[in-house]
Amino acid sequence: MAAFGCTMTPTLRGNQTERATMRSEGQSRRVSLALTALVTVVAATVAVGQQAAVNPGNPFTLEDFKAGDQNREPYQRATDVLHALEVTSGARVADVGAGAGYYAMRLSEMVGPEGKVFAEDISDAALRWMNRRVTVFTLRNVEVVRGDIDNPKLPADSLAAVLIIDSYHHFAQPQPMLEHILQALKPGGRLVIADYSLRDHRTRSRADQLNNHEIDPELVQREIEMVGFHVVRRDDPFLRQIPEAKESRIGAADMWLMVAVRPK
Ligand SMILES: C[S@@+](CC[C@H](N)C(=O)[O-])C[C@H]1O[C@@H](n2cnc3c(N)ncnc32)[C@H](O)[C@@H]1O
Repeated sequence: MAAFGCTMTPTLRGNQTERATMRSEGQSRRVSLALTALVTVVAATVAVGQQAAVNPGNPFTLEDFKAGDQNREPYQRATDVLHALEVTSGARVADVGAGAGYYAMRLSEMVGPEGKVFAEDISDAALRWMNRRVTVFTLRNVEVVRGDIDNPKLPADSLAAVLIIDSYHHFAQPQPMLEHILQALKPGGRLVIADYSLRDHRTRSRADQLNNHEIDPELVQREIEMVGFHVVRRDDPFLRQIPEAKESRIGAADMWLMVAVRPK
């Protein structure tokens, strides 16, 4: 805004000067042409300024969020991920490690006004972005939850579904996280995990894979079965690596998806 006000000032001054000193038609035409050119330059500068200001990496405006969200379908098959949760209107669900809250927002629409979405994360930045998204998109049924590193702090025995996408490989303490998530789900409730892994990297140690922001779905299946989940589906790959998508995780690895349930 400062740049806009500042740049417009000379244009207004130019108009006053024009009224005071105009002597001939020729002069008038020259000034008028100069003003038209100046206004064109100002408009172009403002347009470029606004474009450069879109900031999906630290979203605040509607445009920031939209820019950050735009590749979810091609790079993650977002709608198919959400379908795997089998969420119905009125359900209570959670997005664990929700980041800037894209999936929490989609879930908000799926569960409707009678439902509820717990959008959980442990990072201050993520919680700030999510709170901002809730305001910008008026998400009345989304509750932003600050979890602990080992506990997503979700209500017990009450959720129909939990999503963990591109976050499992970040969990420093997966076992207590999974135990709490199991307890938060209702019996029969679904857990959907999606993450990244390149087949060639699966012989590497768990720590090496995590350093690469990847995790072998076989390892994850073992870990979730150990706490009591029953795996009902594994799509591996769910989406093949897209090497040209260099700004996204799918540029570096395949994405897999797993569905598990809390036994009844
Ligand atoms: C790569 S981001 C993915 C965010 C989101 N799921 C998405 O797809 O946009 C990983 C997120 O996991 C969060 N995270 C890491 N450890 C966590 C934990 N123990 N509990 C909850 N969130 C965690 C990070 O703060 C970060 O926001």
